[in-house]
Amino acid sequence: MTQLLNGNKLAIDIRKEISKEIEKSIRNKKKRLPHLGIILLGTNSSSLTYVNSKIQECKNIGIESSLIHLPNDSSERELLKEIKKMNNNPLIDGFIVQLPLQKHINSDKIIMSINPRKDVDGFHPENFGKMSLDMKAFFPATALGILTILERYKIEISGKHTVVVGRSRIVGRPISILMSRKNYLGNSTVTLTHSQTPNIDYYTKQADIIITAVGIPGFLTGKMIKEGAIVIDVGITKITNGKKSFLKGDVDFNSVYGKASYLTPVPGGVGPMTRIMLIKNTLIAALNNENK
Ligand code: GUN
Repeated sequence: MTQLLNGNKLAIDIRKEISKEIEKSIRNKKKRLPHLGIILLGTNSSSLTYVNSKIQECKNIGIESSLIHLPNDSSERELLKEIKKMNNNPLIDGFIVQLPLQKHINSDKIIMSINPRKDVDGFHPENFGKMSLDMKAFFPATALGILTILERYKIEISGKHTVVVGRSRIVGRPISILMSRKNYLGNSTVTLTHSQTPNIDYYTKQADIIITAVGIPGFLTGKMIKEGAIVIDVGITKITNGKKSFLKGDVDFNSVYGKASYLTPVPGGVGPMTRIMLIKNTLIAALNNENK
């Protein structure tokens, strides 16, 4: 029997908790509402969808958001100028630059230019380094979302073998670091596999927990997992079939459902948790902001 891990339902619970915290620590003290800034370059359809859902999440919870939408051909200098404005604006508590960026832009330079205190994505090397050293920092939202799903469903991580598929900075790398840390919600033995790993199924078959984040629809099949494995599907690919379109994860649902013990569906698994964790990070940034 496979239990589906319902990210939509968990996100509703966490939304309520965050709303309560905003009531207690901000509204009751007559402070300014948290404010998330978003910088988006261009019209990539996935990025537009992600950004709109982040703005919608801010509205749902009742915090402020501002979108700076720059044209596709904006220069690196123009983007850096907008980042500087967000860094210097005391009313912006935290902000993100939606990724991926166009090829003519140096993403490393962009991420490094964000004030780490406002880096609610947790991508700046200061936050990423602190995370790797078990220090307090902003952690990337998707990784936090995965940990929170495991925590709320009381799934033991400690001592388990976790196989992560995909080494992206946004998901694979941070979640592999967090799952292995010597800390609550860690202590897992982690194998990080990627595009250059031969026979990935050799590893996935041994995994107690599999986290797949490669963006290849249906990549992980039932044959690649052991009976009772816990499967976290981070992939979200839009499939268009004629006039119809739908979202498909990295997991081949039909062959994995029934063999795994737990599985996150797509949509409705990790996605809603990522959005709510970004809001949680923004609230933390707001509470840390002395300019309130
Ligand atoms: N693109 C895909 N996921 C993310 C994310 O979590 N943050 C940013 N900034 N860009 C993304």
